[in-house]
Amino acid sequence: MPDHPRSLVIVGAGGHGRELLDVVEAVNTVDSQLRYVFLGFLDDGSADPDPVARRGAPLLGGLDLLGRLDADYLIGISDAAGRLRVDRYASVHGRRPATLVHPRANLGGDVRLGPGTVICALASITTNVRTGRHVVVNVGASVAHDCRIGDYVTIAPGARISGGVAVGAQAWIGAQANIVARRSVGDGAVVGAGAVVTDDIRAAQVVAGVPARPIDAAPDRPRLPGDRAGLPPGQRDAPTPR
Ligand SMILES: CC(C)(COP(=O)(O)OP(=O)(O)OC[C@H]1O[C@@H](n2cnc3c(N)ncnc32)[C@H](O)[C@@H]1OP(=O)(O)O)[C@@H](O)C(=O)NCCC(=O)NCCS
Repeated sequence: MPDHPRSLVIVGAGGHGRELLDVVEAVNTVDSQLRYVFLGFLDDGSADPDPVARRGAPLLGGLDLLGRLDADYLIGISDAAGRLRVDRYASVHGRRPATLVHPRANLGGDVRLGPGTVICALASITTNVRTGRHVVVNVGASVAHDCRIGDYVTIAPGARISGGVAVGAQAWIGAQANIVARRSVGDGAVVGAGAVVTDDIRAAQVVAGVPARPIDAAPDRPRLPGDRAGLPPGQRDAPTPR
């Protein structure tokens, strides 16, 4: 019995979730056989319904529906802690994450992507790379040879990760940031947009600038695109773990 098409939902109907729909649609244009039947978004109410409607996609209901639908899922939440929570919920309910590579991304040899990882258009991953669960390599970002990318990491558009870099779980690499070869970025660290990382970054550290240095980041407000659409209201304002 063929494995496709699979039913699919995206948890989170904010900007990131709708970008993931682009990837799903692009993947569906490649195979002669449809790979995914997109059922709609799951969102606990924070998403703006207008852009969702303009995608022609239904808002099906809250995260709790995931346990009842016979569908694979993607997590359309930028925030790493939010992604972790949805992944745990989905795992408890036996749901299977989809792992997607946009047809206009480049993947080299011996690249292993963890469940739920999404590689967006024009991203490039060269060789002998491993990613963890629910990693996002966003539009035009690149990851070079021998990198190890931890669970729930986001690599924002245009970021460049050089060879042999280790990025810890839940780290967030900002748009157009550069990390030079063989450095490590600790768990939950944040690298600001446009930074050039020349030293190892400690866990939970927030760095920015060229060369990147720790910054006096606001401790009490989410410093990442606060895209927690999809999470139940009580969890939307929880601070990102540091
Ligand atoms: C680094 C970052 C996380 C800090 O956010 P924050 O905690 O809200 O920090 P603030 O905006 O309060 O800035 C704190 C200080 O750092 C500076 N700063 C912030 N981001 C910076 C950056 N990327 N490069 C250089 N300096 C930066 C600010 O100018 C400010 O300096 P000051 O104290 O001299 O005034 C954020 O600015 C950033 O770069 N996020 C990545 C965004 C991104 O890539 N989005 C992609 C979306 S797909």
